[in-house]
Amino acid sequence: MISLVGKPADIFDRDREWRALTGFVTSGQPHATLGVVSGRRRQGKTFLLEALCEVTGGFYFAADQATEAESLRYLAAAVVEFTGSPLPVRFDDWRQAIDTLLAVTADRELPVVIDEFPYLAKASPSLPSVIQAALAPRRAERLRSRARLLLCGSAMSFMGSLLSGGAPLRGRAGLELIVPTLDYRLAAEFWGIDDPRLAIQVHAIVGGTPAYRREFVEDDTPNGLGDFDNWAVRTVLNPASPLFREARYLLSEEPGLRDPGLYHSVLAAVAHGNSTSGGIASYVGRKASDITHPLAVLEVLWSAAPRTRHVPRKPHDLPHQRTTRHLLPSDPATRLGRVGARTRHRPPVAATPTSVRKQCAGTAFRGSLPELGRRLCHR
Ligand SMILES: Nc1ncnc2c1ncn2[C@@H]1O[C@H](COP(=O)(O)OP(=O)(O)OP(=O)(O)O)[C@@H](O)[C@H]1O
Ligand SMILES: [Mg+2]
Repeated sequence: MISLVGKPADIFDRDREWRALTGFVTSGQPHATLGVVSGRRRQGKTFLLEALCEVTGGFYFAADQATEAESLRYLAAAVVEFTGSPLPVRFDDWRQAIDTLLAVTADRELPVVIDEFPYLAKASPSLPSVIQAALAPRRAERLRSRARLLLCGSAMSFMGSLLSGGAPLRGRAGLELIVPTLDYRLAAEFWGIDDPRLAIQVHAIVGGTPAYRREFVEDDTPNGLGDFDNWAVRTVLNPASPLFREARYLLSEEPGLRDPGLYHSVLAAVAHGNSTSGGIASYVGRKASDITHPLAVLEVLWSAAPRTRHVPRKPHDLPHQRTTRHLLPSDPATRLGRVGARTRHRPPVAATPTSVRKQCAGTAFRGSLPELGRRLCHR
């Protein structure tokens, strides 16, 4: 059993996730086990898993969008590097590859991470079944191994379905960890912001996604309330900043969205202050029934935080309640998309500090800032 699994100092918070991961790796189970790590993009899944492999000496492999043959070649090269094998390694199929991963960790509990798993499963749809078969309860290869196999991915729809219903891996995983966005307080702390008002304004734009502070704006944080407008111009409204197109990328990276244009328009509708299905449908020019599915998908993907108010027709008449739905955009795609949507048809030079308030604090943020404020105060 690994005894020293202290969290590296550069990982902000994530104590719960770290405990879950290290607990899974050091469970003491005498055979190989399976875990699944998921969460929206840019939350720090890779950051956590790489750190876990670093402190435990585990195996980490990040898949690419590639054909099956090429992915197997990359994986073989990673195995050679990990084991220091003087002989070349070659995998003809996933069965061989998974068995080798089980074998390289036979002598002690070690994490074996396959990151960006949805890329592999897209090229090799049978891979989940291959893993299911490899981890069959009485299979000798499983019983001999103490690998802690961790599949990680951010395509929420795919990762959710990996363990659901009749999916092959259902019932096989001992860990199902979702890495969430940081909440309001943690996000403020992560951004180094003490002023609650500034914290709400920044949160209204970037939410609690850690990567937005680090890679995306390279630690450019507003230097006080007076710098907020300038900061927005330097970052989310700056076409040269990766944040500027982030909403579009987040949508395009999600597999299974058949009509991305419709999803963009739904987000734009929300960006313009529409918070009910009827309002959104009228904005996008479709029937309310046409947007039921996109709204449901967006809620699942990024928790567009529906606030569902139950209005009993009669007192105590709960079984027959009427439901009114209000969408509170609380996810990065919606937040960034709303800012982008307000500026999409204007030349970038239109984004000046004085126009930021109009663009961000006008219609686009109506409804959500007070709600964010209320939530912040209630914590
Ligand atoms: N807990 C944290 N403490 C400090 N920095 C963090 C933390 N989590 C994430 N980051 C920063 O965010 C960046 C992005 O994280 P990472 O690439 O791990 O996200 P991800 O969830 O794997 O995203 P994707 O789904 O796009 O692969 C990290 O490189 C790091 O700079
Ligand atoms: Mg990652």
